[in-house]
Amino acid sequence: HEATLTIDPAFRVAPVRRRTFGTFVEHLGRCVYTGIYEPGHPSADADGFRQDVLDMTRELGVSTVRYPGGNFVSGYRWEDGIGPVASRPARLDLAWHSTEPNEVGVDEFMRWARKAGIEPMMAVNLGTRGVQEALDLLEYCNIESGTHWSDLRVAHGAKEPYGIRMWCLGNEMDGPWQLGHKTAREYGRLAAETARAMRMLDPGLELVACGSSGSSMPTFGAWEAEVLEEAYDQVDHISCHAYYEEKNGDLASFLACSTDMEEFIASVVATADHVRAKLRATKRITVSFDEWNVWYLSRFEAAKSAEPPVGWPVAPPLLEERYHLADAVAVGGLLITLLRNSDRVAAASQAQLVNVIAPIMTEPGGRAWRQTIFHPFAQASRYASGEVLRVEPVSPVHETAEYGEVPLLHAVATHDEDVTTVFAVNRAVDGPMELTLDARALGDVRVVEATTLSDPDVYAVNTAADPDWVVPRANPDVMSDPLRVVLPPVSWNVIRLA
Ligand code: AHR
Repeated sequence: HEATLTIDPAFRVAPVRRRTFGTFVEHLGRCVYTGIYEPGHPSADADGFRQDVLDMTRELGVSTVRYPGGNFVSGYRWEDGIGPVASRPARLDLAWHSTEPNEVGVDEFMRWARKAGIEPMMAVNLGTRGVQEALDLLEYCNIESGTHWSDLRVAHGAKEPYGIRMWCLGNEMDGPWQLGHKTAREYGRLAAETARAMRMLDPGLELVACGSSGSSMPTFGAWEAEVLEEAYDQVDHISCHAYYEEKNGDLASFLACSTDMEEFIASVVATADHVRAKLRATKRITVSFDEWNVWYLSRFEAAKSAEPPVGWPVAPPLLEERYHLADAVAVGGLLITLLRNSDRVAAASQAQLVNVIAPIMTEPGGRAWRQTIFHPFAQASRYASGEVLRVEPVSPVHETAEYGEVPLLHAVATHDEDVTTVFAVNRAVDGPMELTLDARALGDVRVVEATTLSDPDVYAVNTAADPDWVVPRANPDVMSDPLRVVLPPVSWNVIRLA
């Protein structure tokens, strides 16, 4: 296959937003317990946080972390997680059929966040709770002192307020599986009133209303319109969630899943702008794509119906996907789509960070290691800088069962004064792609670095014993005059020009 890409620094989309590179820590399975937190682990610090996981979180280049859920948050009483650990109650977590020991709560999370150097994105429970509890948590976190909740935080050792700016108003409230599931009007009113009250306490907040849990939800489109009709003035962002998987061995469709994400974003933006026009509003709502990843959800659902959960274990291994090369290439394609839409996607969170559909895996008491999907995220976060550029690919296409005709090349570039970086996926399963870069507008540049993530076996995985099987490697097939790079079949590629 042969493709060309024209790169011109004048074709600007928007500045690269650091919040594109967010992730998610939910009280789910082993994400918190034996994930980020494991007192007694050889690498644990005095607070019980695993240093190996902290190091990998920093290496991943994570900007924001959404917490504490997820479906979990819709039944969560945040007060259970504060004060002396010995007197915290254990509770049933109905969302994941587990027991929540509450050894980690908001104070521990914020200590971890500081060590990891990330911005927290806090979610409030609008499933089983409402305005008052959201206000209490906000007071606990953001008021300096001199009130009931803020003085408690100080008494618990956090003298300075946390100053948390980004808040999610509930989670997936459109989903019938959600505790306290609501209609769009019910949720829209509650979101608006919660937001209004929270802003009375702290006007500097950025608030995210729940959009649809997926573009295939029966209420998709109508949900966003109705929620925003109720809450437009009170919120800043609307959320999107999307998970993708290879179905029935249809690799070509799977590798093109970013086509769905692209459509999803366009539809939500159009819906938000439609409400803006109707309300004669001036501000624009942006998207918080605060759950996205590859997740073999249909396998999980099938296993759950074959064997319904028994008992209420603490931190059981749940949703522990083993990601292969093709999954990493799909993730790379999704990152490219998020970057391409940086004008309207203000934030994104890959779900999740550790053990649960995650780039980082741990063994309890043992090793931590990087899954295949770790690498595109880490490279995109490290190298995307300056402005996102719209690139004009001329690419061969192929037919997919799910999305019809799609280009084999999926790409974006970023540009700062020192370097221009091209992120490119070759979706072709049958052969390499010779990519010619028309970079005349950049002046006299050459390829200073080109890496590729690929493998003769598209289902190759990393494991605890062999964690570096699938890693980015130098691409040997780089030519100059004209600039050309050969992208292996099913590959994620980073090409840096200077
Ligand atoms: O990330 C796993 C789950 O997926 C989250 O708890 C929920 O919000 C979504 O359905």
